[in-house]
Amino acid sequence: SRSIRLAVVPGDGIGQEVVAEGLKVLGAVLPADVKVETTEYDLGARLYHRTGETLPDSVLAELRDRDAILLGAIGDPSVPSGVLERGLLLKLRFAFDHHVNLRPARLAPGVVSPLGPDAKIDFVVVREGTEGPYTGNGGSLRTGTEHEVATEVSVNTAFGIERVVRDAFARAQARPRKKLTLVHKNNVLVHAGHLWTRIFQAVAADFPDVTTDYLHVDAATIFMVTQPERFDVIVTDNLFGDIITDLAAAIAGGIGLAASGNINPSGEFPSMFEPVHGSAPDIAGQGKADPTAAVLSVAMLLEHLGRTEEARRVEAAVYADLAERATLGARTTSQIGDALAARVAG
Ligand code: IPM
Ligand code: MN
Repeated sequence: SRSIRLAVVPGDGIGQEVVAEGLKVLGAVLPADVKVETTEYDLGARLYHRTGETLPDSVLAELRDRDAILLGAIGDPSVPSGVLERGLLLKLRFAFDHHVNLRPARLAPGVVSPLGPDAKIDFVVVREGTEGPYTGNGGSLRTGTEHEVATEVSVNTAFGIERVVRDAFARAQARPRKKLTLVHKNNVLVHAGHLWTRIFQAVAADFPDVTTDYLHVDAATIFMVTQPERFDVIVTDNLFGDIITDLAAAIAGGIGLAASGNINPSGEFPSMFEPVHGSAPDIAGQGKADPTAAVLSVAMLLEHLGRTEEARRVEAAVYADLAERATLGARTTSQIGDALAARVAG
């Protein structure tokens, strides 16, 4: 279609600044006849302090009708830990059934990895996004006593595992190396782990050209540092995926470069694109934040909407900029955004 109806949730801290640059690049890369109708929603700490609400039903209903959501960052030290994370970010992921949480890690030329100049890093983590220990299925007993007990029960459904595993196999099949690694902890978490393993093996039969592998999550962290080239596509549960994608970002040049997509593959609900980084309140409002992750999230958004050519141009602009960064001095958030917008405009 000739227009993109985009919901924008800048959120907290540096979310505001980086999203502005993402939108700048989006506007610059699209042909003049493609309109981006953006509707901005002021969700996060400000709304919470003003009204006590994190995600009003009316906003959720409006978001539902958009083509996609671009999100900055959620979380603020003035709000108790978990309120915004659960009440806003995870609520969006769950409400819109974002079961494929896509997190690519690619070391771009010119970017320094802590693993050294020869590191080969080009993989994508398919993190399950709606189940596992994130469901909020737990509770406390004897709260405040010496005998307090807290549980967080990991929820794993055959339906939920199969759909994300199948998605990951398809992604692996579409890549040159065609390799998929299941990451879990099936030597300890035997109930969930065996269900994941069984389903993984069953789905593998439908993708005979995809090479499969299994790693316990602890071993996966070792290989990610010692042999990152062994990974192509990884599929894993929500919490393991959260942890290993921070590690993946760190080895691939830092959290300032890591983009993500919270995908609802059926298109029943809008998918949501966001940098992996948080709201970084310590540097908020100072123009110090790197907007690259937000801009790469815009590339993922374009790709999801079928605008592959524009997605490739945004990525190319980022890679060209990254390749030159070492030779450039320090730049502000908006200077980086300007440079990327100029590149995509050609
Ligand atoms: C992320 C974040 C979130 C998560 C938090 C803020 C809820 O760490 O997007 O990786 O755990 O998924
Ligand atoms: Mn995280």
